[in-house]
Amino acid sequence: MNIRTKLLKPLEDLVIKFKHNFIFHSLKFRFLFWNVLISFVSILILLTIFFITVRYTLYSQFDSNLTYNAHEISSVLDHSNNPYSSSFLHFNNKNLIGYFTVVLNRNGSVIEESNKLKLNRSTITQILKSVETNPSMSIFTKDISGTYIRMIYMPIIHNSSLEGVLIVGNSIELIKETLNELLILMIFIAIFFLFVSFIVIFYFVHRLTDPLEEITSQIISITGFDLKQRLHIEDLNDEFRVLAVEFNKLFDRLEHTFDRERIFINDVAHEIKTPLSVISGESELTLSKELEADEYKRIIHTILKESRRIESVLNDILSIARLEYTNRNVKSEKIGLKEVCLDIAEDMKAISISKSLEFNFISKGTHFHVFGNKENIKKAISNICMNSLQYTDKGNITMKLYRKAGKIYIIIEDSGIGIAKEDIPNIFDRFYRGKNIGRKEGSGIGLSFSKSVIESSGGSINVESTIGKRTIFTVILPEFK
Ligand SMILES: Nc1ncnc2c1ncn2[C@@H]1O[C@H](COP(=O)(O)OP(=O)(O)OP(=O)(O)O)[C@@H](O)[C@H]1O
Ligand SMILES: [Mg+2]
Repeated sequence: MNIRTKLLKPLEDLVIKFKHNFIFHSLKFRFLFWNVLISFVSILILLTIFFITVRYTLYSQFDSNLTYNAHEISSVLDHSNNPYSSSFLHFNNKNLIGYFTVVLNRNGSVIEESNKLKLNRSTITQILKSVETNPSMSIFTKDISGTYIRMIYMPIIHNSSLEGVLIVGNSIELIKETLNELLILMIFIAIFFLFVSFIVIFYFVHRLTDPLEEITSQIISITGFDLKQRLHIEDLNDEFRVLAVEFNKLFDRLEHTFDRERIFINDVAHEIKTPLSVISGESELTLSKELEADEYKRIIHTILKESRRIESVLNDILSIARLEYTNRNVKSEKIGLKEVCLDIAEDMKAISISKSLEFNFISKGTHFHVFGNKENIKKAISNICMNSLQYTDKGNITMKLYRKAGKIYIIIEDSGIGIAKEDIPNIFDRFYRGKNIGRKEGSGIGLSFSKSVIESSGGSINVESTIGKRTIFTVILPEFK
């Protein structure tokens, strides 16, 4: 490591630390910094404009007085006498307190002088030179023995020839002092403003970001400890309220998902535990004593049945996992729903005949286009139809397809056993089976699959049922144009 890197390393570390320091990246800091900076720069610009205006006004006022007085003195000069009449000195002393006046002849000799302020030789030569080259009046400032004097010089022209130069001047110390005092006052005003704006902006930034910090700390405690907690929205009444409400909705969804996962794992464990204990019980029985051949047959039959049950549960779990995976990865496209329903109706009609039921399909209109995965949508609607066939012992099942207010409706109505009121909120949950199942085979995932697919296509599914009379499933899908 060379000496340069050695020296620069700590500095680089400091810069990196500074860059990564949260305080400097925090919204609060940035908001405060930029607001204070902008207000400070604005007040500086305003004060500078004010100062320049005051300075300009004072000097132009001073210059116009100087010019006026030079004209006054020039008008009382008596050109018939040389040296000029001293009347102007009298005039000068009487009317122009503080002003000094000098009259030079064309050779640069001082003819008249109003007070003790002496112009040195080099200034006189300079003035004469400029008057000779450009015989017009001009104003300039000169430091004479430590005092700033603003002077006007004016060529004295008589009968079109240059006779001499009139110089009138006055000290601008007062203006300089006034401007200095004004500058100091303005610096104090700027510092005071900086201080006040810092406090005011700091207060507002705090008020603005406090709810954000409060929300953040509540979110940390919720995600860290208890998903049942919610953000307190009582004291919020601005955009932060909207944010907090949305977060609460998110927590609702998360809690629901976690609860469902928990129930799902419980259900799976339960579904597998029962057949497994039957298998192990029967196996222990077989090993404990000698049995009749028929008894062995019965036990093996039971073991086979329970193994199949485990297999079917595992298959259901696999298909749920696949559904969740494919729902995220399936290819979605424009689907003609009428064709899909016709296919389903054909299959259902074949099954319904074997069950002595009647399956009808009625459709009003054409071109029922929706957006989604064709296979999944077909399976989702089939599941509902299959349920109607499974849970209906006599009568008929009707599937209707129609369009209403830009949406596509599929109604599946059966005259079956119906669903108990208390089961209705749960039948779309995984592994949930109603009280009405009797000895009917199934594992309770058909409707959860259907709901998931329909919702992923932007639709919804509802059920109405009267026990012992009928069940109506309504699927609503957005029309795809
Ligand atoms: N048309 C219907 N009539 C009466 N009950 C129904 C009907 N459709 C669904 N159900 C009830 O809803 C429950 C859930 O249905 P779901 O299709 O999810 O599962 P399942 O039919 O029991 O099993 P599987 O997953 O094999 O289809 C059923 O167990 C049943 O109690
Ligand atoms: Mg089913």
